[in-house]
Amino acid sequence: MLKKISLLLEEVASFSPKSKKETEDFRVLFLGKKGHLNSLFASFKEVPNDQKKEFGQSINKLKQSVLDKLENYKSAFEEIEGKLEIDLTRPVVLSNMGSRHPLSIVENKIVEIFKKIGYTISEGPEIEDDWHNFSALNLPADHPARDMQDTFFIQTNPDILLRTHTSSVQVRHMEKNKPPIRTLSPGRVYRNEAISARAHCIFHQIEGLYINESVSFADLKQTLLYFAKEMFGEKTKIRLRPSYFPFTEPSAEVDVSCNICNQKGCNVCKGTGYLEILGCGMVDPNVLENCKIDSKKYTGFAFGMGIERIAMLKYGVNDLRLFYENDVRFLNQFSSI
Ligand code: PHE
Repeated sequence: MLKKISLLLEEVASFSPKSKKETEDFRVLFLGKKGHLNSLFASFKEVPNDQKKEFGQSINKLKQSVLDKLENYKSAFEEIEGKLEIDLTRPVVLSNMGSRHPLSIVENKIVEIFKKIGYTISEGPEIEDDWHNFSALNLPADHPARDMQDTFFIQTNPDILLRTHTSSVQVRHMEKNKPPIRTLSPGRVYRNEAISARAHCIFHQIEGLYINESVSFADLKQTLLYFAKEMFGEKTKIRLRPSYFPFTEPSAEVDVSCNICNQKGCNVCKGTGYLEILGCGMVDPNVLENCKIDSKKYTGFAFGMGIERIAMLKYGVNDLRLFYENDVRFLNQFSSI
């Protein structure tokens, strides 16, 4: 009889129901009218007197273990009662872990590319003063080129503004470091522009700066060619067009060959076979002097690009606003990249 009880105890211990029905069957099997416990209690009178105590204790132990088991599973099944038939033994499906924003993916990629050739990362404030955003960059007050970047000023203090480019970070970096300087400044910038598919009042830039003895325009061109091939593929070509920026002389705008149509001409490159991606040039000696760098000894180049623009070209996104709307149907498409 005691042997039977210990077998039943084992059965209770290993019982793990998968549904409410199994739990109920278990309850009836042990506690029901014709269940194990009732039949054990019924046989109590047949047990010799000297064994009654031990026998009684064992039955109580068995009963308690059945009640404990039922208690454990009752709450688990109550929660889901009437909702679903759930198999509690199924492995957990991981919930959506989210993904990186496409702008972060592109920024990280650009940073990776330049890190490989020795660039460091520098960061600076988004609320800037006039000196770092304009004057030090050869853009004194009333210089007409200030109009190239419509600026948000702080109303009570025209010396304070939201930076219009991350060139301001390069000024800060030059003020604090001695050449050779090789740095990349990613960050958010602000311009007072009407929001459309191609422009936004907030966007992101990465600007690069290299200053050393005898840095030449050829170094700039080679660096940008390396970047374009790493970013858009080995077959990518670049084209430089003369341009104007107050802080670089000479200056150029850089186009990459359109890999959407393989330069046959499409609506993204507007039939030209090329896409504009960045502005660049040799750092104007005035800028070096403003940052206490000897312009007779050192030369340098700088370049700047919009992260949104690169992301649009890389992923074929045709509306800049999609980057800020946080529509998961858009963002989910980048989750595996
Ligand atoms: N700062 C420029 C802009 O925001 C880009 C640039 C950087 C151009 C460095 C030349 C050299 O438009």
